[in-house]
Amino acid sequence: MCGIVGYVGEGEKKEILLSGLRELEYRGYDSAGIALMDQAGIHHFKAAGKLSYLEAKTAEFTSASFGIGIGHTRWATHGKPNEINAHPHLGKYSFVVHNGIIENYQELKGRLQKKGVSFLSQTDTEVIVHLFEYYNEIHTDPFCAFEKTIGDLQGAYAILLITKASPNHIFFAKEGSPLILGTDAQNHVYIGSSDAALIGKAHTVTYLEDGQYGRVYKGALEIFVQGKQILPPMVPLQRNTLYAQKEGYRFFMEKEIYEQSSVLSNAMLGRLREKDIFFEEITPSFLSHISHITFCACGTSYHAALSAAYLFERLAQVSTSVEIASEFRYKKPYIQEGTLFIVISQSGETADTLEALKRAKRSTAKTLAICNVDNSSIVRTADTTLLTRAGIEKGVASTKAFATQMLVLWMLALEMGKETMTSTEYAENIRALRKIPTATQVSTETHERIQRLSKRYLHGHGFFFIGRDIFYPLALEGALKLKEISYLHAEGYPSGEMKHGPIALVDSELFTICLMPKTTLYEKNRSNVEELSARDATICAITPEPFSLADDLIYTKHTEHPMCEFFEMMVVLQLLSLEIAIRLGNDVDMPRNLAKSVTVE
Ligand code: M6R
Repeated sequence: MCGIVGYVGEGEKKEILLSGLRELEYRGYDSAGIALMDQAGIHHFKAAGKLSYLEAKTAEFTSASFGIGIGHTRWATHGKPNEINAHPHLGKYSFVVHNGIIENYQELKGRLQKKGVSFLSQTDTEVIVHLFEYYNEIHTDPFCAFEKTIGDLQGAYAILLITKASPNHIFFAKEGSPLILGTDAQNHVYIGSSDAALIGKAHTVTYLEDGQYGRVYKGALEIFVQGKQILPPMVPLQRNTLYAQKEGYRFFMEKEIYEQSSVLSNAMLGRLREKDIFFEEITPSFLSHISHITFCACGTSYHAALSAAYLFERLAQVSTSVEIASEFRYKKPYIQEGTLFIVISQSGETADTLEALKRAKRSTAKTLAICNVDNSSIVRTADTTLLTRAGIEKGVASTKAFATQMLVLWMLALEMGKETMTSTEYAENIRALRKIPTATQVSTETHERIQRLSKRYLHGHGFFFIGRDIFYPLALEGALKLKEISYLHAEGYPSGEMKHGPIALVDSELFTICLMPKTTLYEKNRSNVEELSARDATICAITPEPFSLADDLIYTKHTEHPMCEFFEMMVVLQLLSLEIAIRLGNDVDMPRNLAKSVTVE
């Protein structure tokens, strides 16, 4: 949700900032802007819409002398996504960029307006720069004014501020939104809200903690906590950027669907042994005395949690509950003794999930993160983490991250269930795990079939995705994928639930995507689909079996294990959404109104 970058050095500042923003654009693309300061003064540029508009606007501008710069790509929270509301926000002689939400901005704005300050934008962010300049007039020490400013802010923020009053510094502060500082061998300083913006530039980095703030200037990072300077722990930054290229695919989402087979193999490496599972991250005592598991997540990760709950109850015979993080954090939850609290997050920065995790940490629960981003806030907060190893996921619609979450959760369920399962059942699961990389390989034939079929699903008044057991959360995920990128209305339901209300909507213009695995409740599902067909629903069945009532059939392979069917159907659903959205002419990787990483609540 929004991306911020900063730079201090004598490189081509505009290019460095823009290239950092390019890496972060998928996190928010309503508008973008940069502000740079060097001996020639301050320059700033803003543009509404995607980064390409800002690139066009700055095409003639060069900035290759020593200086500092900040940049931002925005996902609008306060105020329309137009140029005025784009960051950086300007005071009289300072600029600010900000991720997060300043909750008390109305009150601060009112205070400043009474003192004669006028505001240009509708954003919460603008208050920061005016407040800073107000304090700077009183204190005349810019850094002290910055400290006073952040002391007045309530909410979540990662802030970068530059000011003519301190021309060689970037001031920064972090509370609840990620911020990373890095340096290279030439003592240039790079700042980003994610390490993706620093890869290939900084050599060593420090991941700031909440409450940290400070200033950077050439070759130096000064970090403070409550007025005391601290020495930041610097760690090497991975330098490979190759994995973030489209490599001939039309969209990152498509590439990420195709990558699933190999990232799933990666996620198993060293963890799937010949006859059992081994997680080096988890000690035996960590999994002992667990009487209940609470899963907590948002969006697609929540769907992984829902499916996982079936697996853990069935395989490990442990009671489970599944919580949507935004609900959990405010419900004064009762967390019983012996709870293992598992948060699931691709980004590791989802604000609601992070807060839910912090809430769980205040109880007696053990906490475990299933996460794709090492060093993310969630990883740093949880007691233990299982990384999902999906590699960077750029498509806003999550695909390979979901696949690897499911795989890791399934393996963990097996690890916890090794005492409760029969040896035959355990061995069957181990065998099935080995088949998943093959089950998720995209066959040209299936992809072409889905591409052809997709033209029949561009209209109508909505979609139902239905399934039973673990295929019910998969149906929810199929519906979410479709609505995110096609903007068509889609809902997921348990097949058996249709007759309790939703069936009233059924007619020939209601498209029903039916997950009909052969291994799991096939006959029950079939009856439910027959009920829909009798009411003239348009049926698209995803199944290994012939089914005469289907208007369209997408065949999956016959297999013995439900999880093999699960993973294969997952790929079919992803491709179906992708192809429908492409036919509708949508930007699949950056769908409207969304952003990759939701760092505000
Ligand atoms: O990074 P997280 O897994 O915590 O993100 C949670 C959701 O915001 C995310 O899954 C969202 O629903 C995706 N856009 C789904 O495609």
